[in-house]
This record gives sequence, structure tokens and C-alpha cells, in this order.
Amino acid sequence: MTHTNRPLASPLRRPLPETTRRRCVVTGAAGFIGSQLATRLHEQGWAVTGIDGFTDSYDPVEKHQRAAALERLGGVSIVVGDLVTSNLESLFDGAEVVFHLAGRAGVRASFDIEPRYVHDNVTATEAVVAAARPGGVRRIVYASSSSVYGNSPTPFREDLPPAPISPYGRTKLEAERLCLEAASSGLEAVALRYFTVYGPGQRPDMGLRIFAEAALHGRPLTVFGDGTQRRDFTYVDDIVDATIAAADAPASGLAVNIGGGSSVTLLEVLDLLGSLVARPVDVRFHPFARGDVLATEADSTRAASLLGFRAHVPFERGFRAEVAWVRDRSELVQAEEARSA
Ligand SMILES: NC(=O)c1ccc[n+]([C@@H]2O[C@H](COP(=O)([O-])OP(=O)(O)OC[C@H]3O[C@@H](n4cnc5c(N)ncnc54)[C@H](O)[C@@H]3O)[C@@H](O)[C@H]2O)c1
Repeated sequence: MTHTNRPLASPLRRPLPETTRRRCVVTGAAGFIGSQLATRLHEQGWAVTGIDGFTDSYDPVEKHQRAAALERLGGVSIVVGDLVTSNLESLFDGAEVVFHLAGRAGVRASFDIEPRYVHDNVTATEAVVAAARPGGVRRIVYASSSSVYGNSPTPFREDLPPAPISPYGRTKLEAERLCLEAASSGLEAVALRYFTVYGPGQRPDMGLRIFAEAALHGRPLTVFGDGTQRRDFTYVDDIVDATIAAADAPASGLAVNIGGGSSVTLLEVLDLLGSLVARPVDVRFHPFARGDVLATEADSTRAASLLGFRAHVPFERGFRAEVAWVRDRSELVQAEEARSA
């Protein structure tokens, strides 16, 4: 994008920031998680500036819709720019915390376009860390990933040696190291290892959303592997809770797992999906995809003791909410298409 550091909305539409409000920057604010984090921070009284490059990782229209919804809140401003080329020092000026969620997510694509993963995950994080101290930032909260564990034995504990098996996992691990090393030279930093995040607003390239869209439209679903792989699915509201708690946690220089509290097989997901859409789902099994791990499960001891975090949303309730969101969204899209036909 060429609009580096250009606010999306007229400053006249935004209330003047109060000096008493805590200021923060959310990178990746137009993303699935970043947009929901920015909304909640705003609701809690933070003055929020977001930055996003609206990259082509998936349809940028969806990112622009989220950014527009944030701007409508009033008081949240979104800057359009790539972290690598933006003037981050001036963006960070006066911000106490940087919630660094920008990045290129997704395991499978990382084998084909690794340089973009290096750019968005590693080079972008170098830029964030380099600008944070001169910008006066106290703490970086980094969105790392359970992918750093690869096929380690479950449950994953933070003191296991990292063993990523995809370029995505390796770039997240490298970015996490960049943040945590900065913590040894004065800047506070916490890396949260998110476990498969889901819920309304989920990225269009993620499994649960793809499954829900296919099932609602009566299309066959593709499962890579035999369906016995397990994931510790974590509802987006719980992720947001943990991420905000990490801003003030009495710890720095550490990675912390953020998991949903139960590990569910894909076969169980498909069973539940069938009952949620009230029709049998037509599943086609394909060989395992490279980079896919067999099981993820967070040991949440550290999250409980350092962040006071406990996941609240059980998978069945969270997936029901996501399927309802997917249904509502596709009805809206169909109505829009009918209007413009
Ligand atoms: N969704 C998950 O299950 C999950 C799990 C573990 C970790 N994470 C991490 O959490 C973060 C958010 O994930 P998400 O699912 O919301 O993804 P997302 O793709 O919806 O959001 C990431 C945002 O970052 C922006 N971005 C990417 N590179 C950028 C750059 N160089 N400069 C500026 N903006 C850039 C993208 O445009 C996008 O809007 C990512 O860092 C991801 O690796 C996500």
C-alpha cells in the first residue's frame, strides 16, 4: 500500500483524545483478532491507534470492512501502512503498550511463499522492536503461536524446546525471540502463544469457517488426514481477555500459552457441525497436508498464574456462535448480490 501513516477517516469525526486515557497501538488492527482486540480496548477506555497493511493474505475487502467498523466506533484511528516501511517511532510516540498482532498467519501457504512470511512476521517484528524504545513504549505484547511446538508431546508447556515444522512456525518463533530478547535490554515484552483461534469474524482461510460455509451451503467438506487430529480451539473473546491482561502482567521476557481449555478432534467438530446446520455433512478425506500437526493442547498453568487467565467459552458454545455468524454473513452477501443484480 502507498498510504503509509494516512488515517482512514477525517480527524473531525474523532473525539479529541483525553490525556488521562492510556494509549496503545494495535498492529494488525484490521485482522480477525486485532479488530476485536481494538474494539475491546476502546470499550475499556484506552485510546487506540491501529495500523494495518491490508495485505493480500486473504480478501482485503474483509479487512477494510473491519477497519471501517472500528472507525465508526469513534476514537479509534486506523493507519494504513506496512510495518516495515512505516514511520513507527512517530506512530508509537505516547503509546504505553504495543499489541503486536500484525503478521502472516496460516501454515500451508507458508511452504509456497516463505519470503512473505519472513517479511510480515520477522522483518516487521524487527521494525516494531527497533521503534518501540525510542517511541517511549513500555511493553510489547506479541501474538505468537502454538505452531512453535510442532509435534511435541502434549500438553505443550512453555519450557519445552521449540520444534516448529513449517516456515510459519519458524517465523513466529523467530519473531517471538526478537521480542523476548528486547526484554533483556529494558523494554518489557510478553509473547502469547495463541492456540487455534475461532469465533465470529474468523479468517476466511481457517478450517472452522471453511467447514461452516460448506456445510451451510450443502457443499462437500475437505478434511486433510483422517480427522483424528486434535486442536485446542480458543474462542476469540478469551484470546482478547488474555491479551489485555498481558499488558499489565507482573512478568516480562516470557512466552505464555493461551488455550481454550479442551482439545477437540476434527471428527468431533464435524459431528457438532452436522447438528448445528441440521443436516448431514458430506466429508471427503484427503492425505495429511504438510505442516499440519497431529495434536495441540495448551498447558495453561503459566497463563493462570501470571495473567489470572482461564478460558470461559466451551467449544460447543463458541462454534455455535461462529456458525450463526457465518450464516448471517452469507445471507447478507446474498441480499447484496440480489440488490446489485
Ligand atoms: N488466528 C489464529 O488461530 C492464530 C493462532 C496463533 C497465532 N496467531 C497470530 O495472531 C495474529 C493475528 O492473527 P489473525 O488470525 O487475526 O490474522 P489476520 O491475517 O486476520 O490479521 C493479521 C493482520 O496483519 C496485517 N499485516 C500482515 N503483515 C503486515 C505488515 N507487514 N504490516 C502491516 N500489517 C500487516 C494483515 O493485513 C492482517 O490484517 C497473527 O500474528 C497470527 O500469526 C493467530
